[in-house]
Amino acid sequence: MLSFEDDVPILGLRPAVSGFAPAGTARSSIEPARDIAESFQRVRVEDKRVINGKADVNQLVPFKYKWAWEKYLAGCANHWMPQEVNMQRDIELWKNPAGLTADERLVVKRNLGFFVTADSLAANNIVLGTYRHITAPECRQYLLRQAFEEAIHTHAYQYIVESLGLDEGEIFNAYHEVASIRDKDEFLMPFIETLTDPAFRTGTPETDQKLLRSLIVFACIMEGLFFYVGFVQILALGRQNKMTGAAEQYQYILRDESMHCNFGIDLINTIKLENPHLWTPAFRSEIQDLMRKGVELEYRYAEDTMPRGVLGLNAPMFKEYLRFIANRRCQQIGVETLYPGAENPFPWMSEMIDLKKERNFFETRVIEYQSGGALNWD
Ligand SMILES: [Fe+2]
Ligand SMILES: [Fe+2]
Repeated sequence: MLSFEDDVPILGLRPAVSGFAPAGTARSSIEPARDIAESFQRVRVEDKRVINGKADVNQLVPFKYKWAWEKYLAGCANHWMPQEVNMQRDIELWKNPAGLTADERLVVKRNLGFFVTADSLAANNIVLGTYRHITAPECRQYLLRQAFEEAIHTHAYQYIVESLGLDEGEIFNAYHEVASIRDKDEFLMPFIETLTDPAFRTGTPETDQKLLRSLIVFACIMEGLFFYVGFVQILALGRQNKMTGAAEQYQYILRDESMHCNFGIDLINTIKLENPHLWTPAFRSEIQDLMRKGVELEYRYAEDTMPRGVLGLNAPMFKEYLRFIANRRCQQIGVETLYPGAENPFPWMSEMIDLKKERNFFETRVIEYQSGGALNWD
């Protein structure tokens, strides 16, 4: 029979304080008494932290990080599903030998070749990595929504591949077989692996910087830069009344991704505020180097997908666009910009990002999404 001297039942009953919080920390059965007493205290706002927090991660309230909760609500309000978009016109155009040029077909295939696996990587990074290291429940709530949105994006890309009858083996293996896609993913992998490594723990300046570096690469370079050549390409097709179903899907994805990127930036800036010692000049300069590398890789991808210029777009226009976006990302996280004077050659992209739910830009959507809360039970 267990006595009160045994620490096992106490640990069993403990709410998930830091045990679930920092990276699945394997707690020893001998814990400091102070820690156990803290675990039964009511959560106070001032005890919450985005990383290395000790407050119970199971208690969403009292709210501290309202920006995260608001993004969670906005993400839910923007809910959509790929099957709601009518792909019939795309299918007819793709099947018609005169429907698209060879260069346009290459853009579509290389584009899907990156995205079909990119969003699975993103989802795995969140579920198996980031989520464990974030100790603010409001941020975890958003990450759960974001993870589901990544699943919807993978679904959307698969749905386009299936609708057009593309060779699944070719498209889904492009990240192994096409150098400009593989290089982007290989750049990302070490940062994703840091977060998903079961042995990785935060809690020292070195490991906290490692986490911050990976979060910056994920939000500002992967979601915030590596998606943009692809988005411009398909949306440019849509603007020319081609592949309008795919363009509609990408428009919803772009809206979600711009929210993911903004969430990531708020997350990064809050970690910086709470842990100013991490934001050293050497660290900032390292971030600039990574950003430069990201621009270079994405530009190579632009050249590879558009070797001759297509849709009124050409690779050099993307050089300027990527520099413009990289400057913006640097500004957003408080790093000195890299490309003075870079301008946006695609101002119409801002309109696409600001899509309102009720607006159907390409007019292919067959039904309006009806959320559970809007259903009529009479
Ligand atoms: Fe996504
Ligand atoms: Fe995303």
